[in-house]
Amino acid sequence: MIRLEGLGKSFGSHQAVVDLHLEVKPGEIFGFLGPNGAGKTTTVKMMTGLLKPTAGRVLVAGRDMAADPIAAKRAMGLGPDEPFVYPKLTGAEYLRFVGELYGVPLADMKKRVPELLEMFELTPWGGELLESYSHGMRQKLVLGGILLHDPKVLVLDEPMVGLDPKSGRLVKDIFIRLAERGTAIFMCTHVLEIAEKLCHRIGIMIGGKMIACGTLDELHAQSKKEGRDLESIFLSLTGGAEYSTLLKYL
Ligand SMILES: Nc1ncnc2c1ncn2[C@@H]1O[C@H](COP(=O)(O)OP(=O)(O)OP(=O)(O)O)[C@@H](O)[C@H]1O
Ligand SMILES: [Mg+2]
Repeated sequence: MIRLEGLGKSFGSHQAVVDLHLEVKPGEIFGFLGPNGAGKTTTVKMMTGLLKPTAGRVLVAGRDMAADPIAAKRAMGLGPDEPFVYPKLTGAEYLRFVGELYGVPLADMKKRVPELLEMFELTPWGGELLESYSHGMRQKLVLGGILLHDPKVLVLDEPMVGLDPKSGRLVKDIFIRLAERGTAIFMCTHVLEIAEKLCHRIGIMIGGKMIACGTLDELHAQSKKEGRDLESIFLSLTGGAEYSTLLKYL
């Protein structure tokens, strides 16, 4: 459902993403990890057509993002790292606006908009302007918006940031259900516990390069460390285990 072929992006002389190859299958949840500045958001922006790659190509549900961007975007839902919403729309207006962009039939929208507000516990605020929403409320509304057109591919950049524990749990369960129904999910996250519990495969990026990719067991085998938990594996593979030397500046 998602295919990255030799994807690359340079900003001047800086190579933010280098020769990235990846395939995410229907029903698979793929976790994309890496230190700050590794190139995760740059990858997401190229995958979703917000940024033009300097090398390679992106296919979404078999559609080339560069050659056929509307068809590729129609098949996907994007949860960006910052939940951008128009402040002068209400929650319900925002969902209807997003639904219209994706060509969701009016009859479906009449049913789905109240359902999605209810699912994310936003019904009491559905008529309020979005400028009054908290960060977590905006995050949930944006997630509601990307579910409206029932996309076969979800691309999510830090989807859990700012969610309270109950909402976080809800969102995790939503992703699991969607994957069971065949949706392919690509998710950037710093929350290793989420990657460990939710993701079928995990990719680790450093300095624009994917240095490891596989199941937790495969990553463990690659890290050659005792600890089987993802934190130990991540720190071992990214060289982050030397973090304690930084404490000398305290
Ligand atoms: N528009 C831009 N112009 C120049 N450099 C950029 C631009 N966008 C990103 N970069 C650089 O590309 C690199 C990767 O940034 P990116 O935002 O993809 O990292 P990230 O992995 O998402 O990090 P984080 O975990 O902090 O979200 C960084 O070195 C960043 O400075
Ligand atoms: Mg980022």
